[in-house]
Amino acid sequence: MTPDSTIDTIDTIDTIDDVLVVGAGAMGTQIGAAYALAGYRVTTGDLAPEALDQSRDEAQRRLRRLAEKGTFSRDEVDSALERMMYTTDSLEAARTTDFVLEAAVERIDIKRQLFADLDEAAPEHVILATNSSTIPSSLLMDATARPDRVCNMHFFNPALVMNCVEVVRNPQTSDATVEAALGMVHRLGKQPVRLNKEIPGFVANRLLGALRNEALRLEADGVASYQDIDVAARTALGHPMGPFELMDLVGIDVSYLIRLSEYEQSGDPADLPHPSVQKLYEQGRYGRKNGRGWYEYTS
Ligand code: CAA
Repeated sequence: MTPDSTIDTIDTIDTIDDVLVVGAGAMGTQIGAAYALAGYRVTTGDLAPEALDQSRDEAQRRLRRLAEKGTFSRDEVDSALERMMYTTDSLEAARTTDFVLEAAVERIDIKRQLFADLDEAAPEHVILATNSSTIPSSLLMDATARPDRVCNMHFFNPALVMNCVEVVRNPQTSDATVEAALGMVHRLGKQPVRLNKEIPGFVANRLLGALRNEALRLEADGVASYQDIDVAARTALGHPMGPFELMDLVGIDVSYLIRLSEYEQSGDPADLPHPSVQKLYEQGRYGRKNGRGWYEYTS
C-alpha cells in the first residue's frame, strides 16, 4: 500500500457503513451516538463490561433528550439506537468493520499495542483513526502495516454538541484517507478543520491551552478565585464556560494525562501538568464524571 493509493480509498468513502469506536468513555460514547444518528452502524468496544453498560445508558439518555427537544424525530432516534451495538471484543468487531475510531486512554503504549492489534484484525482497506489530540498518528502509524490509512480525527467534548472535528494527517497519510475522513465529518453534520501537518495539541486545544495556563497561573498567584476567573471568561469574553468549568467537563484526569503525554514528547518541563491540576488528580477529583473537581456536583 503506498501513500498515493487514492483510488482505492476514495472508493471506500461511500462504503463506510460499519464503524467501530474503541473506548466507551465520555468521548467514545458521544462520538458513537453521533455516528449512529448520521446513519452508520456503530459498535462500541471496551474491555470493561460496566463501561459498556454505562455508555449504552448515557447514549440512550442523550439521544432520547434530542427527540424530546425535537432536534431529531422519535423514529430517527429509535433507529439510531437500534444501530448501536456493544462488545468487549473490539478485535473481533474490527474484522467486519469499515472504519475504526480509537478513543481509548491517552497512553501511547496502550494505543500502539491497540493499533498493532487492530491492524492485524481489520480488513486492509480500513482507515484506523485516533481521537487523540496529543498523540499524533505518526507515533502510531509504524505500529501498523498501513501508515497511509492512519490519521487523527479529533472530536470535542461533548461530542454530540460540539461541531468541530480536526482531521490531521501524518507525513504518510494518503490524500484519499484525508478526503475520506473529511467526507465522514460532513456526513456527521459537523465542521471539519483540516491540519496540513502535525503539531501537539492541534489547533483548538492550543488556543484553549493558552487560556487555561494563564487561568491556572492567576489562580495559583492568588490574583482571583477560580470561580471569579470563570465568571470573567463567561461574562467578559462570552465563552460558554470558564476554563476551570471546562477542565471539570473534560476531566481533570484527562487534562492531567494529556499534559503528561505532551511532556513525554517534548521533554520541556513547561509542558508538565500544573501543580494545582496534579493535586486534584492525586486527590481523585476528576471533575463532573465523579462529582468533584474544581467544583462539587450534586448530579
Ligand atoms: N453532553 C451532551 N450534551 C450536552 C452536555 C453534555 N455533557 N452538556 C450540555 N449538553 C447539551 C444539552 O443538549 C443541552 O441542552 P438541553 O439540556 O436543553 O437538552 C445543551 O447542550 C445546552 O446545555 P446547558 O443549557 O446545560 O448548558 P450550556 O448552554 O452551558 O451548554 C455546553 C453546555 C454545550 C457544554 C457549553 O457550555 C459549551 O459549549 N461549553 C464549552 C465546551 C468546550 O469548549 N468544549 C471543548 C473542550 S476541549 C476538548 O474537548 C478537546 C480535548 O482534546 C480534551
